[in-house]
Amino acid sequence: MSRTCRIAPSLLSADFARLGEEVRSIVAAGADLVHFDVMDNHYVPNLTVGPLVCEAIRPHASGVPIDVHLMVEPVDRIVPDFAKAGATFVSFHPEASRHVDRTIALIRESGCRPGLVFNPSTPLDWLDWTLPKLDLVLLMAVNPGFGGQAFIPHTLAKLAEARRRIDAERARSGREILLEVDGGVKVDNIRAIALAGADTFVAGSAVFGAKDYRATIAAMRAEVAAAV
Ligand code: DX5
Ligand code: ZN
Repeated sequence: MSRTCRIAPSLLSADFARLGEEVRSIVAAGADLVHFDVMDNHYVPNLTVGPLVCEAIRPHASGVPIDVHLMVEPVDRIVPDFAKAGATFVSFHPEASRHVDRTIALIRESGCRPGLVFNPSTPLDWLDWTLPKLDLVLLMAVNPGFGGQAFIPHTLAKLAEARRRIDAERARSGREILLEVDGGVKVDNIRAIALAGADTFVAGSAVFGAKDYRATIAAMRAEVAAAV
């Protein structure tokens, strides 16, 4: 059985001094999404980039969707800025928003596709009243803030539960909702992660730490295709 597989290299592990070139390289290497991590040194203990940089890299992405992962608090003020900067998906952590339903609606009204992000200890209960309005569910397999951390194994069981919920919603509404996993994804564990139910895979250090981006993305795709 061949599985849906979207590879989303995370720019967090790219060479920021050559960011445009790095974006062109991963797109040429077959990236399906460009994962863009936004950190504010408040919601997470690290600081990265904002809408200006998103806008600057967009022409280099050649139409490949930009998958903005907001690790900021508060969320709402910055959402329209990312819409203007060319984001396709905008995901946020429910703990970082006072009004989760309002933030989801704001992302949609701004012209982007909303996603909700679950930290390793965040229960999937947050999906109870949000899933019909989401285009993306993102499960963190590490605590957010840094690249290069180890995959937390309980994410596999959580992915299976999220898969069940998404399949039920799809049977009800016919809508496609992506199930993305972020953190510690490597060539040697991606097959198990796909088997657990993920269809979209963020990989930062595994891609940018490799000499050959294309070969690494191809190896990941082959592992997912081999998942039965
Ligand atoms: C962590 C970020 C991830 C990070 C993943 O907070 O959300 O996207 O870049 O990096 P790796 O793939 O190295 O775990
Ligand atoms: Zn991320």
